[in-house]
Amino acid sequence: MSAAVKTPPAADPATPLFEVRHLRVSFERAGVALEAVRGIDLTLHHGEVLGLVGESGSGKSVGMLAALGLQPETARVRGSVKFKGRELVGLPRREMRALRGSRIAMIFQDPLSSLNPVMTVGAQIVEVLRLHNTALSAKAALERAEELLSLVAIPQPDRRLRQYPHEFSGGMRQRVMIAMAVANDPDLLIADEPTTALDVTVQAQIMEVLEGLQARLNLGVILITHDLGVLAGHADRVAVMYAGEIVEQAGIDDIFARPSHPYTRGLIESIPDMAVERERLFSIDGTPPPLGRLPGGCAFHPRCPQRQVVCTATAPAFHGDARHNAACHFADLPDGDTA
Ligand SMILES: Nc1ncnc2c1ncn2[C@@H]1O[C@H](COP(=O)(O)OP(=O)(O)OP(=O)(O)O)[C@@H](O)[C@H]1O
Ligand SMILES: [Mg+2]
Repeated sequence: MSAAVKTPPAADPATPLFEVRHLRVSFERAGVALEAVRGIDLTLHHGEVLGLVGESGSGKSVGMLAALGLQPETARVRGSVKFKGRELVGLPRREMRALRGSRIAMIFQDPLSSLNPVMTVGAQIVEVLRLHNTALSAKAALERAEELLSLVAIPQPDRRLRQYPHEFSGGMRQRVMIAMAVANDPDLLIADEPTTALDVTVQAQIMEVLEGLQARLNLGVILITHDLGVLAGHADRVAVMYAGEIVEQAGIDDIFARPSHPYTRGLIESIPDMAVERERLFSIDGTPPPLGRLPGGCAFHPRCPQRQVVCTATAPAFHGDARHNAACHFADLPDGDTA
């Protein structure tokens, strides 16, 4: 079998690949529902790369896991998530499982714990392949596994297949996770902090591998990160999350050129590379509110350098249009169609 190079998607290009509407995820604690995700909207088209960025605890993982039916038992999920027009919320577990691991793939936040330490890397890839294609012979699966390791630029893939995860460096293990994620030729890949545990050079290599695969397989990708810097040069669009909500969405160039939410500006100023020039790493004052202790008005107001009285009392609406919008009373964006 040759490496899969996809033909353009057959689906109606007007139907988004992935569409999240008013997604809410809450956890019950002592009889009180605590909302970790408070009504997020996202649209991803075929072959598009969307960065989902925000500080720790903003709800990035919980939101995307819930979108794929992977929420904890204790979570309640509301809203709509469509994959190629098909509703995923409420889909029977068996159907959801079949979709994941084939059409939809996810790279989890903790890649080390996702690999089995007592199985060779080859055996684990073969398992993933045969789980979704029971007709695949052992020999063909092994050939495909080798091809997948080459696809993520692991040298000497035939030898590497026979090794165990502990024989791989962190960066190489992350490549294996990516290979497993794309094993069954998905259309959508959700990668949760795929480079966070790695040093800067290896981070860049992994981003290159992801980008190469994305273009080759025409993947739609949601790239979750707390570091906006990782997205520069790699994402088409960015959605910024704060305290369970998306507070700004824009094209990658617009985010850097015209950040319109004070939180986005804070994230940009915290990017280490940019701080080199200023000789001091800026960080946003304060910490995000814990679950269940949301301040009134704009959730960001206690930390906002530009807050006014209105921010403490009234939650801001979105300003801007479908291309670039931000939920801030003082966003300098002309109002247009945000649908
Ligand atoms: N099983 C759970 N039960 C209760 N609360 C949870 C559970 N899982 C996550 N949370 C809470 O939901 C909120 C969002 O968590 P989430 O893991 O989505 O954050 P994140 O944006 O992915 O952060 P990070 O950058 O650290 O990965 C946090 O306040 C977290 O404590
Ligand atoms: Mg997370």
